[in-house]
Amino acid sequence: VVLLTGMPGCRKKTLEIDTSPPYLRDLAEQLDFYIGTAVGYGSATFPNNSQYMKTLKREFNAVVAEYTMKWGTIRPDRETFNYGPGDELIKFAEDNKMMVRGHTLAWHQSVPAWVEDGDFTRDEAISLLEEHIDKVVKRWQGKIREWDVVNEVIRDGLTGQPGENPRRSNSVWERFIGEDWVEFAFRAAAEADPKALLFYNDYGIERKNRKQDAVFALVEDLLAKGVKINGIGFQGHFVSGNVPSEEELKANLDRFHDELGLKVQFTEVDIRIKKPVTAEKLAQQAEEYKRVIKVALEHPACDAVLLWGVDDGHSWINSSFPEHGAPLLLDSRFDRKPAYYAARDYLLAEIERRQGGEEGEEGGEKEE
Ligand code: XIL
Repeated sequence: VVLLTGMPGCRKKTLEIDTSPPYLRDLAEQLDFYIGTAVGYGSATFPNNSQYMKTLKREFNAVVAEYTMKWGTIRPDRETFNYGPGDELIKFAEDNKMMVRGHTLAWHQSVPAWVEDGDFTRDEAISLLEEHIDKVVKRWQGKIREWDVVNEVIRDGLTGQPGENPRRSNSVWERFIGEDWVEFAFRAAAEADPKALLFYNDYGIERKNRKQDAVFALVEDLLAKGVKINGIGFQGHFVSGNVPSEEELKANLDRFHDELGLKVQFTEVDIRIKKPVTAEKLAQQAEEYKRVIKVALEHPACDAVLLWGVDDGHSWINSSFPEHGAPLLLDSRFDRKPAYYAARDYLLAEIERRQGGEEGEEGGEKEE
């Protein structure tokens, strides 16, 4: 329990933070499930902010680097491989028995200037991409359970016009190599660590729409060519009030699992609220978090929900979507929000339900 007393401008008042058990990670473990989070890096977050660190250890059993495993950090110039921050996160995860997702080997963002502004032939760019993936995946082989090999290939705003190109044009890989760069990336990852689970990761595909159709077609085509892909990451950057219904979320996981045999996960969940944030909006957000976790937990091919941040104070939403806020389970004092309690109550009830084990009702068995 953290006590903040004598805050300037306040009457002397004790602001207590609820840190009482049970914790999300312990409940998730009882359900063979991962509740994870993206982890920042720097003076305000990992590994320097002690409150951030305590909360991270206490509440989560999976982590993903928010940016330190992207090209921008790992490969500031051609000769330098900066693995330090990634190594620190992996050591921390090992010490605290957390699963690690790797994010991400090829994306159109976080591309260092020497690549973005480089002058590469197709063959040179293929070699560069393959070499990067080979080195990074091997570096953490056996420690990273699953990689977002390729992130966000399909663009927004598809209209369905005949002949429309669904792929984003602002990607260096698309520009230097052409559409088959995705195939080279997955093949390189599979070769570097045959045991790692390989994911395609994207946003705005959590309900059926044109973008989801384009992702489906892309992955279906790769699988038909014999490319190893194990799963789809649905990022889950939601706006409160516009979170897909339980039926829509479930139908979307089913689509990729039943038709393509893929694992499914929610990999970057946050549910941002249009300001001003009110008690009613926080209550709605709580219901929405419960909905996402319920769909994930009940699905046989889904074993993880990762949030895109520990607390509202250190979320990318604050700078990227300044008209919105309060997207996570903990507020900027690391105190628990209604969404935290809703998630925890749901996990507790689910444990009880399974222990009660009504006859014939199994529930919760995850596929290998
Ligand atoms: C974001 C990070 O949160 C920011 O700190 C960084 O500046 C940019 O990237 N989809 C993704 C993530 O796959 O990597 C992005 O993370 C958020 C959107």
